[in-house]
Amino acid sequence: MPTLFSPLQLRDVQLRNRIGVSPMCQYSSVDGFANDWHLVHLGSRTVGGAGLVMAEATAVTPEGRISPQDLGLWKDEQIEMLARIFRFIAAQGAVPAVQLAHAGRKASTAPPWEGGHAVSEADGGWRPIYGPSASAFDLGDIMPHEIDVTGIRNVVEAFAKAAQRALTAGARMIEIHAAHGYLLHEFLSPLSNQRTDEYGSSFENRTRATREVVRAVRTVWPERLPLLVRISATDWVEGGWDADQSVELARELKRLGVDMIDCSSGGAVPNARIPIAPGYQVPFAERIRREADLATAAVGMITSPEQANELITNGRADMIFMAREFLREPYWPLKAAVHLGGTAQVPIQYGRAFVSR
Ligand SMILES: Cc1cc2nc3c(=O)[nH]c(=O)nc-3n(C[C@H](O)[C@H](O)[C@H](O)COP(=O)(O)O)c2cc1C
Repeated sequence: MPTLFSPLQLRDVQLRNRIGVSPMCQYSSVDGFANDWHLVHLGSRTVGGAGLVMAEATAVTPEGRISPQDLGLWKDEQIEMLARIFRFIAAQGAVPAVQLAHAGRKASTAPPWEGGHAVSEADGGWRPIYGPSASAFDLGDIMPHEIDVTGIRNVVEAFAKAAQRALTAGARMIEIHAAHGYLLHEFLSPLSNQRTDEYGSSFENRTRATREVVRAVRTVWPERLPLLVRISATDWVEGGWDADQSVELARELKRLGVDMIDCSSGGAVPNARIPIAPGYQVPFAERIRREADLATAAVGMITSPEQANELITNGRADMIFMAREFLREPYWPLKAAVHLGGTAQVPIQYGRAFVSR
């Protein structure tokens, strides 16, 4: 029976434990470039013992950024600094990864600490922004243009090119962002997709863009390396995307070479009523794992070592991802190992501070 500190093998990659740093936008880039902030942010959590260290939502095109300060991999020059960061992560025994993203109708907004509202072109924002349909996320938000089929093809190609750059940078896992109301999720959800062409209405059509991205990325991403997809397993709204469709999608993604589904939720519409509580998204990871027979990561309000370990030992998920708790405590895995009596890879420089009971 695996525990939180058991290694996990995915294709040719072995993770030293089941703990992942969930992707977290830092809104700290200029022109999409990683910098010292990203090195220290991701490096600290690496030193803190995480098995998987995933860089934030990284835009595959400049128009696909959530904010002007997003990280990007739309040009080769952006590889070098990420390579330095990934080298550090790998040298310390963790697996470097990156989440590839396109913000769709949620593009060109300010960082949360500036209110998250639309950014004008004068302030570094851009127009037009694109979604599956000409419908804005919320009142007062930018009205997106409906992306045409050529535009979709360009986005699919941009994901593949960014995946190639991630490989050159030394990433050993990629996660495709198909959650939180960004472009691919906007296609999946009937709440944001009103198209009548081959990318809208039926389940097959709404999932087409995601499947095309996965297929294109899998073509350039080596067979020996794992591919993850983050989904919003439900929109938490009647008539929206839901858990049944998530299971069906996971089955299809498995056939296309996806190795793990990272099970988040929400983000399609502003008025969803989400029952936020400890581990509230775990049932999705559990169900997809069982019914699609695919590895899953559970995420969302996981904070205690016992809670995290229980999810693994009871086979409810294969990994746990944490975001906010990792911001509060970069050394969470090392402390959890002492607490649970597991083994973590303590950096030799820090050995005297972490002694198992
Ligand atoms: C500062 C911050 C930035 C985030 N950025 C991203 C992101 O880039 N991509 C993503 O899929 N989720 C993002 N999220 C969501 C987290 O990855 C995670 O799914 C969510 O916070 C729930 O986990 P938690 O309860 O452990 O924080 C972000 C969350 C936070 C707090």
